[in-house]
Amino acid sequence: MIINLRVWRQPNAQSAGKMVSYRVEDVSEDMSFLEMLDLLNEDLTVKGEEPIAFDHDCREGICGMCGVVINGAAHGRSASPVPTTTCQLHMRSFADGATIDVEPWRAGAFPVIKDLVVDRTAFDRIIQAGGFISVNAGSAPEAHSVPAPKAEADRAFDAATCIGCGACVAACPNGSGMLFTAAKITHLAMLPQGQPERYSRVRTMVAQHDEEGFGGCTNIGECSAVCPKQIPLDTISQLNRDLMKSLFKR
Ligand code: SF4
Ligand code: FES
Repeated sequence: MIINLRVWRQPNAQSAGKMVSYRVEDVSEDMSFLEMLDLLNEDLTVKGEEPIAFDHDCREGICGMCGVVINGAAHGRSASPVPTTTCQLHMRSFADGATIDVEPWRAGAFPVIKDLVVDRTAFDRIIQAGGFISVNAGSAPEAHSVPAPKAEADRAFDAATCIGCGACVAACPNGSGMLFTAAKITHLAMLPQGQPERYSRVRTMVAQHDEEGFGGCTNIGECSAVCPKQIPLDTISQLNRDLMKSLFKR
């Protein structure tokens, strides 16, 4: 395949950026999107040009590092109906000769560091504000020693699959990080170990979310539609219910 790319290049956080065009040849349809960028970067390096900076780690859809906006969609649109991460998006999802726009996440709370790399430490600070338990659980307990109803254990597990990629923020017209925050709150609120701080947690995490400059949720749903882990919108309902209850539990 031959792919024509238009990539956001920005030398650093202080400089202005712009779209730059590249032609990538010998792309295999079995390459991931990141492998296609690797191919381009090898070519740029051989020519003595600055390679494109992009984030990645696991390349298996589990670390949440790799998100970029591809043709206007967070993580791009794969041929599969299930959303996926950029590292799991394959070039067979594009036509030979296609022109593809590649940009970093666009959100005030995720400033661009360089090219396609953004600063997502705002998510870390939301976790630091309450996304933990203080129970001393000791060493790994026997699997069934802390009884949790199956439905709630499943709900906690599903919420815990959030990988912190930030696609929900990039897709939201409000730049809201509420789906991420709600996934973390739901994960802990469903389990016995999460109960001691359940209501102080929701207050401090939502306060930190707002302090970081993320927008408010207005139930648009773009976040859940692009989420590679299919975190459901009803986690935000859970967050809102717990936040309301927390007002009476000071
Ligand atoms: S909720 Fe989904 S889109 Fe948002 S950070 Fe978690 S995994 Fe990524
Ligand atoms: S590189 Fe880890 S999720 Fe894509």
